Amino acid sequence: MRASSKLSKSSTKHFQKKILEWYRTHGRMLPWRRGKTKWGRDPYRVLVSEVMLQQTQVDRVLPYYKTWIRRWPTVGSLARARLASVIKAWAGLGYNRRAVYLHEAAKKITSEFGDTFPRTDDELMKLPGVGRYTARAIRTFAYGEDVGVLETNTKRVLLRVFLGVSSLREFNGFREKELLELADAVVPKGKGDVWNQAMMDFGALVCTAKNPKCEQCPLREMCKWYQLQTQSSNLKTQNHSVKVKTRKLRRIKFKETDRYFRGRIVDVVRQQSVPKNQLRTLMGRKYGLSDRDRFDKLVGSLVSDGLIAVSGMRVSLP
Ligand code: ADE
Repeated sequence: MRASSKLSKSSTKHFQKKILEWYRTHGRMLPWRRGKTKWGRDPYRVLVSEVMLQQTQVDRVLPYYKTWIRRWPTVGSLARARLASVIKAWAGLGYNRRAVYLHEAAKKITSEFGDTFPRTDDELMKLPGVGRYTARAIRTFAYGEDVGVLETNTKRVLLRVFLGVSSLREFNGFREKELLELADAVVPKGKGDVWNQAMMDFGALVCTAKNPKCEQCPLREMCKWYQLQTQSSNLKTQNHSVKVKTRKLRRIKFKETDRYFRGRIVDVVRQQSVPKNQLRTLMGRKYGLSDRDRFDKLVGSLVSDGLIAVSGMRVSLP
């Protein structure tokens, strides 16, 4: 199915108008949206904010972003920073590998691109931690390109309004690539930057995953999902086609996951370097990680991700 088959010119125009109108009065003033000049926004700042926002909510990112930019205002300053300081500055943000990626990306940019920041998908996606989504975010927010940006919020808005579903899983035969075409097709010409910010805010504040604010939504009349929801509640049918099929899986507790233990190991080492056996004992006593092989594997994975170093029998930040 082509993305364009989902769109008529008039519904695209209506969609654009309503989203942009909503954004004018409800959009958030976020620090990474400031500082726009006629040449665009500083791509380094966009990179930092987007990597921080990859798995973390806006409210949590805000103080980290501000402190980060004060400390490392340019890509060069980050490239010159010690990796251990960068990992320390990330404490509490989660998914620590992103700190290593940002540092590596800064080094790569300064050594390979000099004064010009990478700009194309190809160049950007060669940076550690930068996938298609972040590359497009940089293209549109820093350089004002008219490309759609697909992240959780923007995806949900497009899927609901045009396809009547909340996730790709619910729509047979429609794939990420087609969703990307749809995202591109609805960008108003010359307004890529503001458009993508607006879509993100709309998804985060109105078209939310849980309890969307359909009653206040300016897109209600054209939204396929809203129509299906109201029809199905009128018919009181439980087996409507938009119903999500969820598989019942045993839920693994977060505090039993590798991700949790990796985070705790880095937390300890951030404070000070420790002998490895002491670290193992501490992880067992405090966090219930008693399996020695698993501990060794986790330490090995953190070393290969560049988050910690083991020298002799001591574990420290790199
Ligand atoms: N989530 C990811 N990128 C974002 C941005 N630029 N603004 C708000 N939320 C976001």
